[in-house]
Amino acid sequence: MSEKRKVLMICLGNICRSPIAEAVFADYISKNNLTDTWNVDSAALIGYHTGKSPDRRAMSTLRDKGITNYSHRARPITAGDFDKFDFIFGMDNNNIAELEGMQPDGSKAKIELLGSYDPNGETIIRDPYYDSDSAGFVKAYEQCVRSVEAFLQEHKN
Ligand code: 4NP
Repeated sequence: MSEKRKVLMICLGNICRSPIAEAVFADYISKNNLTDTWNVDSAALIGYHTGKSPDRRAMSTLRDKGITNYSHRARPITAGDFDKFDFIFGMDNNNIAELEGMQPDGSKAKIELLGSYDPNGETIIRDPYYDSDSAGFVKAYEQCVRSVEAFLQEHKN
């Protein structure tokens, strides 16, 4: 069997948006018998939250949507990730600029906005970390669902 295709979800802290994106991707491939084909992880652009579980609002949003088996510890992206992963998805344009600046010459990863796949055209997954409630997390979840599904439909073969 050919090697799995690997996706890395990136945001600033790896405690809000990229864990939601990773959990949504993992849930989709599990439910669609694609775990032999795809692999997913997530990481941060900053090391500040290294080792922490996702924000409680991210976890409660996932639980409310029926994703109860997700766990993750934040980690920073490494130079090696740009060769290990086929796709590295950022959540906003700052993420993309940072990733493009870090990418080692000749490494294989394709860097894209996850929201570039959103059929509703909402390309930016906004940082909800400083919000006072969960609404931004729910919105990020819904954006991730639409984009992950569209990405995997587009890369079926
Ligand atoms: P995330 O949200 O990038 O979606 O995980 C953030 C988490 C932490 C910080 C910023 C954004 N922070 O500045 O600590």
